[in-house]
Amino acid sequence: MNRLTGKSALITGAAQGIGRGFAAAYIREGATVAIADIDLAAAQATAAELGDAAYAVKLDVSKQEDIDAAIAAVVEKTGKLDILINNAALFDASETVDITRASYDRLYAVNVAGTLFTMQAAAAQMIKQGHGGKIINMASQAGRRGEALVAVYCSTKAVVISLTQSAGLDLIRHGINVNAIAPGVVDGAHWKHVDAMFAKLENKKPGQKKAEVEAGVPAGRFATPDDLTGMAIFLASSEADYILAQTYNVDGGQWMS
Ligand SMILES: NC(=O)c1ccc[n+]([C@@H]2O[C@H](COP(=O)([O-])OP(=O)(O)OC[C@H]3O[C@@H](n4cnc5c(N)ncnc54)[C@H](O)[C@@H]3O)[C@@H](O)[C@H]2O)c1
Repeated sequence: MNRLTGKSALITGAAQGIGRGFAAAYIREGATVAIADIDLAAAQATAAELGDAAYAVKLDVSKQEDIDAAIAAVVEKTGKLDILINNAALFDASETVDITRASYDRLYAVNVAGTLFTMQAAAAQMIKQGHGGKIINMASQAGRRGEALVAVYCSTKAVVISLTQSAGLDLIRHGINVNAIAPGVVDGAHWKHVDAMFAKLENKKPGQKKAEVEAGVPAGRFATPDDLTGMAIFLASSEADYILAQTYNVDGGQWMS
Protein backbone atom coordinates (compact mmCIF):
# COMPACT_ATOMS: atom_id res chain seq x y z
CA MET A 1 0.00 0.00 0.00
CA ASN A 2 2.68 2.53 -0.96
CA ARG A 3 1.38 3.78 -4.27
CA LEU A 4 1.72 7.46 -3.29
CA THR A 5 4.82 7.37 -1.11
CA GLY A 6 6.51 10.76 -0.89
CA LYS A 7 3.75 12.55 -2.84
CA SER A 8 2.36 15.93 -1.80
CA ALA A 9 -1.39 16.25 -2.36
CA LEU A 10 -3.87 19.10 -2.03
CA ILE A 11 -7.55 18.15 -1.66
CA THR A 12 -10.18 20.89 -1.70
CA GLY A 13 -13.30 20.51 0.43
CA ALA A 14 -11.52 17.78 2.41
CA ALA A 15 -12.84 18.63 5.88
CA GLN A 16 -15.68 16.14 5.48
CA GLY A 17 -17.36 13.65 3.18
CA ILE A 18 -15.71 12.34 0.04
CA GLY A 19 -12.70 14.68 0.27
CA ARG A 20 -11.97 13.47 3.79
CA GLY A 21 -12.19 9.88 2.58
CA PHE A 22 -9.72 10.66 -0.21
CA ALA A 23 -7.33 12.29 2.26
CA ALA A 24 -7.38 9.27 4.59
CA ALA A 25 -6.78 6.92 1.66
CA TYR A 26 -3.92 8.99 0.25
CA ILE A 27 -2.26 9.07 3.67
CA ARG A 28 -2.55 5.27 3.91
CA GLU A 29 -0.75 5.16 0.53
CA GLY A 30 2.14 7.27 1.84
CA ALA A 31 1.19 10.80 0.73
CA THR A 32 1.21 14.03 2.71
CA VAL A 33 -2.15 15.79 2.32
CA ALA A 34 -3.33 19.38 2.64
CA ILE A 35 -6.88 19.34 4.02
CA ALA A 36 -8.06 22.50 2.25
CA ASP A 37 -11.51 23.81 3.11
CA ILE A 38 -13.55 27.00 3.45
CA ASP A 39 -14.27 25.81 7.02
CA LEU A 40 -10.82 26.08 8.61
CA ALA A 41 -11.89 24.79 12.03
CA ALA A 42 -13.38 21.66 10.47
CA ALA A 43 -10.26 21.21 8.31
CA GLN A 44 -8.06 21.49 11.41
CA ALA A 45 -10.17 18.92 13.28
CA THR A 46 -10.00 16.52 10.34
CA ALA A 47 -6.26 17.00 9.92
CA ALA A 48 -5.75 16.29 13.63
CA GLU A 49 -7.77 13.08 13.31
CA LEU A 50 -5.85 11.93 10.24
CA GLY A 51 -2.44 12.32 11.89
CA ASP A 52 0.95 13.79 11.09
CA ALA A 53 0.70 13.39 7.31
CA ALA A 54 -2.30 15.75 7.22
CA TYR A 55 -2.36 19.52 7.72
CA ALA A 56 -5.13 22.09 7.37
CA VAL A 57 -5.20 24.92 4.85
CA LYS A 58 -7.84 27.65 4.66
CA LEU A 59 -9.21 27.78 1.12
CA ASP A 60 -12.32 29.28 -0.42
CA VAL A 61 -11.97 28.07 -4.02
CA SER A 62 -14.07 30.99 -5.25
CA LYS A 63 -11.31 33.43 -4.20
CA GLN A 64 -8.16 33.69 -6.32
CA GLU A 65 -6.09 35.01 -3.41
CA ASP A 66 -7.06 31.95 -1.35
CA ILE A 67 -6.11 29.61 -4.20
CA ASP A 68 -2.69 31.24 -4.61
CA ALA A 69 -2.10 31.22 -0.85
CA ALA A 70 -3.11 27.55 -0.56
CA ILE A 71 -0.68 26.46 -3.30
CA ALA A 72 2.04 28.54 -1.61
CA ALA A 73 1.23 26.94 1.76
CA VAL A 74 1.55 23.44 0.28
CA VAL A 75 4.91 24.29 -1.31
CA GLU A 76 6.12 25.84 1.92
CA LYS A 77 5.09 22.79 3.93
CA THR A 78 6.23 19.99 1.59
CA GLY A 79 8.47 21.69 -0.99
CA LYS A 80 6.21 20.73 -3.90
CA LEU A 81 2.76 19.83 -5.19
CA ASP A 82 2.26 16.49 -6.96
CA ILE A 83 -1.50 15.86 -6.82
CA LEU A 84 -4.61 18.06 -6.75
CA ILE A 85 -8.14 16.82 -6.18
CA ASN A 86 -10.67 19.51 -7.04
CA ASN A 87 -13.39 18.22 -4.74
CA ALA A 88 -15.13 21.26 -3.18
CA ALA A 89 -18.59 21.95 -4.59
CA LEU A 90 -22.02 23.27 -3.67
CA PHE A 91 -25.46 21.85 -4.47
CA ASP A 92 -28.76 23.60 -5.01
CA ALA A 93 -32.17 22.58 -6.33
CA SER A 94 -35.29 24.42 -7.43
CA GLU A 95 -37.84 24.60 -10.19
CA THR A 96 -36.42 26.27 -13.30
CA VAL A 97 -38.67 29.29 -12.84
CA ASP A 98 -37.33 29.76 -9.30
CA ILE A 99 -33.58 29.65 -10.04
CA THR A 100 -31.99 32.79 -8.60
CA ARG A 101 -29.01 34.76 -9.88
CA ALA A 102 -27.44 34.43 -6.45
CA SER A 103 -27.61 30.62 -6.51
CA TYR A 104 -26.35 30.48 -10.09
CA ASP A 105 -23.44 32.84 -9.35
CA ARG A 106 -22.36 31.00 -6.20
CA LEU A 107 -22.51 27.51 -7.74
CA TYR A 108 -20.58 28.64 -10.82
CA ALA A 109 -18.04 30.51 -8.65
CA VAL A 110 -17.32 27.40 -6.56
CA ASN A 111 -18.01 24.39 -8.82
CA VAL A 112 -16.76 25.84 -12.12
CA ALA A 113 -14.43 28.80 -11.54
CA GLY A 114 -13.12 27.16 -8.35
CA THR A 115 -12.27 24.00 -10.25
CA LEU A 116 -10.74 25.82 -13.23
CA PHE A 117 -8.60 28.31 -11.34
CA THR A 118 -7.42 25.86 -8.66
CA MET A 119 -6.47 23.52 -11.50
CA GLN A 120 -4.68 26.41 -13.24
CA ALA A 121 -2.68 27.38 -10.15
CA ALA A 122 -1.78 23.76 -9.39
CA ALA A 123 -0.72 23.18 -13.01
CA ALA A 124 1.46 26.31 -12.99
CA GLN A 125 3.25 25.00 -9.88
CA MET A 126 3.64 21.52 -11.39
CA ILE A 127 5.04 23.00 -14.63
CA LYS A 128 7.54 25.02 -12.60
CA GLN A 129 8.65 21.85 -10.81
CA GLY A 130 9.13 20.09 -14.16
CA HIS A 131 8.07 16.58 -13.07
CA GLY A 132 4.43 16.50 -14.23
CA GLY A 133 1.61 15.80 -11.81
CA LYS A 134 -1.90 14.46 -11.41
CA ILE A 135 -5.12 16.48 -11.26
CA ILE A 136 -8.47 14.87 -10.46
CA ASN A 137 -11.69 16.85 -10.79
CA MET A 138 -14.88 15.77 -9.09
CA ALA A 139 -17.68 15.57 -11.63
CA SER A 140 -20.95 13.70 -10.99
CA GLN A 141 -23.55 11.57 -12.71
CA ALA A 142 -25.41 14.90 -12.56
CA GLY A 143 -22.98 16.12 -15.23
CA ARG A 144 -23.99 13.30 -17.59
CA ARG A 145 -27.68 14.18 -17.75
CA GLY A 146 -29.92 17.04 -16.62
CA GLU A 147 -32.44 16.65 -13.83
CA ALA A 148 -35.74 18.54 -13.69
CA LEU A 149 -35.06 20.39 -10.43
CA VAL A 150 -31.27 20.49 -10.52
CA ALA A 151 -30.46 22.58 -13.61
CA VAL A 152 -27.63 24.67 -12.24
CA TYR A 153 -25.75 21.96 -10.30
CA CYS A 154 -26.06 19.49 -13.21
CA SER A 155 -24.74 22.08 -15.65
CA THR A 156 -21.75 22.90 -13.41
CA LYS A 157 -20.79 19.22 -13.37
CA ALA A 158 -21.16 19.00 -17.17
CA VAL A 159 -18.71 21.92 -17.36
CA VAL A 160 -16.30 20.07 -15.06
CA ILE A 161 -16.35 17.11 -17.49
CA SER A 162 -15.63 19.47 -20.41
CA LEU A 163 -12.87 21.34 -18.55
CA THR A 164 -11.30 17.99 -17.72
CA GLN A 165 -11.21 17.11 -21.41
CA SER A 166 -9.68 20.41 -22.57
CA ALA A 167 -7.20 20.79 -19.72
CA GLY A 168 -6.30 17.13 -20.01
CA LEU A 169 -5.46 17.54 -23.69
CA ASP A 170 -3.47 20.72 -23.02
CA LEU A 171 -1.54 19.84 -19.86
CA ILE A 172 -0.29 16.40 -20.92
CA ARG A 173 2.49 18.22 -22.81
CA HIS A 174 3.85 19.03 -19.32
CA GLY A 175 3.35 15.47 -18.08
CA ILE A 176 0.27 16.48 -16.10
CA ASN A 177 -2.64 14.03 -16.25
CA VAL A 178 -6.07 15.59 -15.76
CA ASN A 179 -9.00 13.22 -15.22
CA ALA A 180 -12.32 13.26 -13.40
CA ILE A 181 -14.43 10.97 -11.25
CA ALA A 182 -18.22 10.96 -11.63
CA PRO A 183 -19.81 9.49 -8.50
CA GLY A 184 -23.48 8.53 -8.35
CA VAL A 185 -24.99 8.98 -4.91
CA VAL A 186 -22.71 9.03 -1.89
CA ASP A 187 -23.98 8.96 1.69
CA GLY A 188 -23.10 11.86 3.96
CA ALA A 189 -23.90 15.50 4.74
CA HIS A 190 -24.34 16.37 1.06
CA TRP A 191 -27.19 13.89 0.66
CA LYS A 192 -28.83 14.95 3.93
CA HIS A 193 -28.99 18.42 2.38
CA VAL A 194 -30.27 17.07 -0.97
CA ASP A 195 -32.95 14.97 0.76
CA ALA A 196 -34.12 17.98 2.81
CA MET A 197 -34.38 20.12 -0.32
CA PHE A 198 -36.41 17.49 -2.18
CA ALA A 199 -38.66 17.00 0.83
CA LYS A 200 -39.69 20.64 0.37
CA LEU A 201 -39.73 20.72 -3.43
CA GLU A 202 -41.61 17.44 -3.92
CA ASN A 203 -43.58 17.42 -0.69
CA LYS A 204 -41.90 14.26 0.59
CA LYS A 205 -41.18 12.97 4.09
CA PRO A 206 -37.61 13.29 5.38
CA GLY A 207 -35.63 10.32 4.06
CA GLN A 208 -38.18 9.48 1.37
CA LYS A 209 -36.24 10.89 -1.60
CA LYS A 210 -33.08 9.15 -0.45
CA ALA A 211 -34.87 5.80 -0.15
CA GLU A 212 -36.41 6.22 -3.61
CA VAL A 213 -33.05 7.06 -5.15
CA GLU A 214 -31.33 4.17 -3.38
CA ALA A 215 -33.93 1.74 -4.75
CA GLY A 216 -32.86 2.74 -8.26
CA VAL A 217 -29.12 2.13 -7.81
CA PRO A 218 -28.14 -1.10 -9.63
CA ALA A 219 -25.60 -1.90 -6.88
CA GLY A 220 -28.49 -1.69 -4.41
CA ARG A 221 -27.11 0.96 -2.07
CA PHE A 222 -25.62 4.41 -1.74
CA ALA A 223 -21.84 4.63 -2.02
CA THR A 224 -19.63 5.48 0.93
CA PRO A 225 -16.58 7.70 0.38
CA ASP A 226 -14.47 4.51 0.62
CA ASP A 227 -16.13 3.19 -2.54
CA LEU A 228 -14.46 6.03 -4.47
CA THR A 229 -10.95 5.87 -3.05
CA GLY A 230 -9.66 3.10 -5.33
CA MET A 231 -10.24 5.24 -8.42
CA ALA A 232 -8.75 8.32 -6.75
CA ILE A 233 -5.58 6.44 -5.78
CA PHE A 234 -5.26 4.84 -9.21
CA LEU A 235 -5.64 8.14 -11.09
CA ALA A 236 -3.01 9.77 -8.85
CA SER A 237 -0.53 6.91 -9.28
CA SER A 238 2.03 6.24 -12.00
CA GLU A 239 -0.23 3.41 -13.21
CA ALA A 240 -2.41 6.13 -14.77
CA ASP A 241 0.37 7.93 -16.67
CA TYR A 242 -1.21 7.13 -20.05
CA ILE A 243 -4.74 8.18 -19.04
CA LEU A 244 -5.95 11.74 -19.58
CA ALA A 245 -9.05 13.83 -20.24
CA GLN A 246 -11.36 11.03 -19.05
CA THR A 247 -14.27 11.03 -16.62
CA TYR A 248 -14.77 7.73 -14.81
CA ASN A 249 -18.14 6.71 -13.41
CA VAL A 250 -17.92 5.23 -9.92
CA ASP A 251 -21.63 4.98 -9.33
CA GLY A 252 -22.83 1.45 -8.66
CA GLY A 253 -23.89 1.05 -12.29
CA GLN A 254 -26.10 4.11 -12.63
CA TRP A 255 -24.62 5.51 -15.82
CA MET A 256 -22.81 3.82 -18.70
CA SER A 257 -20.38 5.72 -20.89
N1 LIG B 1 -22.33 13.13 -2.20
C1 LIG B 1 -22.75 12.77 -3.40
O1 LIG B 1 -23.73 12.04 -3.56
C2 LIG B 1 -21.99 13.24 -4.63
C3 LIG B 1 -22.35 12.69 -5.86
C4 LIG B 1 -21.67 13.10 -7.00
C5 LIG B 1 -20.65 14.02 -6.91
N2 LIG B 1 -20.33 14.54 -5.70
C6 LIG B 1 -19.26 15.52 -5.66
O2 LIG B 1 -18.23 15.07 -4.80
C7 LIG B 1 -17.61 16.21 -4.15
C8 LIG B 1 -17.64 16.05 -2.65
O3 LIG B 1 -18.98 15.86 -2.24
P1 LIG B 1 -19.38 15.57 -0.71
O4 LIG B 1 -20.61 14.77 -0.75
O5 LIG B 1 -18.22 15.07 0.05
O6 LIG B 1 -19.74 17.08 -0.26
P2 LIG B 1 -19.89 17.72 1.19
O7 LIG B 1 -20.92 18.79 1.04
O8 LIG B 1 -20.07 16.67 2.23
O9 LIG B 1 -18.46 18.39 1.45
C9 LIG B 1 -18.04 19.48 0.70
C10 LIG B 1 -16.88 20.16 1.42
O10 LIG B 1 -16.52 21.29 0.61
C11 LIG B 1 -16.34 22.42 1.47
N3 LIG B 1 -16.58 23.64 0.70
C12 LIG B 1 -17.76 24.20 0.36
N4 LIG B 1 -17.56 25.34 -0.32
C13 LIG B 1 -16.21 25.50 -0.42
C14 LIG B 1 -15.39 26.50 -1.01
N5 LIG B 1 -15.90 27.57 -1.61
N6 LIG B 1 -14.05 26.33 -0.93
C15 LIG B 1 -13.50 25.26 -0.30
N7 LIG B 1 -14.25 24.32 0.30
C16 LIG B 1 -15.59 24.43 0.23
C17 LIG B 1 -17.33 22.21 2.61
O11 LIG B 1 -16.97 22.95 3.75
C18 LIG B 1 -17.23 20.69 2.82
O12 LIG B 1 -16.19 20.36 3.72
C19 LIG B 1 -18.35 17.43 -4.69
O13 LIG B 1 -17.67 17.92 -5.83
C20 LIG B 1 -19.69 16.87 -5.11
O14 LIG B 1 -20.33 17.65 -6.10
C21 LIG B 1 -20.98 14.18 -4.55
